[in-house]
Amino acid sequence: MAKTAVANEKMDELKEYMGQFKGKPRSESNLITIMHKAQELYGYLSQEAMDAIALEMSIPTAHIWGVATFYHYFNLTEQGKYTISVCLGTACYIKGAAEILDKIREELGIDIGQVTEDKLFGLQIARCLGACGLAPVIMINGKIYGSLTPKKVSEIIQSYRKQAAK
Ligand code: FES
Repeated sequence: MAKTAVANEKMDELKEYMGQFKGKPRSESNLITIMHKAQELYGYLSQEAMDAIALEMSIPTAHIWGVATFYHYFNLTEQGKYTISVCLGTACYIKGAAEILDKIREELGIDIGQVTEDKLFGLQIARCLGACGLAPVIMINGKIYGSLTPKKVSEIIQSYRKQAAK
């Protein structure tokens, strides 16, 4: 299906969902319920979704933004299936974290804060993942990989690709 058709479908579903709150009091709990629905549909709270909610509920987008940043379970950026966090803390940096980061960028073709086209990987940086003894370190969806080399990191990415293709 074309990208725009999928986007329209999501927006239609969000609007339909919001319809049930029409005429009901504009409570914070209703807002949060709708925000959850938007995140479920989009994987994160997109600007488009927040604007649509703001319009429907007659509240400023800034207020929705405030609620979203207050609760840690809301994502404000697009997420990949696997989030790779590259530690750039001192211990990791000394042990070659910059080369690890470069290798990941090259393998995935994305930069920090971006998600691959197939939505499989997202790339972030971290300041010390608490495993300095294993530097340089990355974390993928909460799992730590240490004593990395550019070659090792490339193999790890391949193994995730294989896993996702199964
Ligand atoms: S500096 Fe990287 S884990 Fe501590």
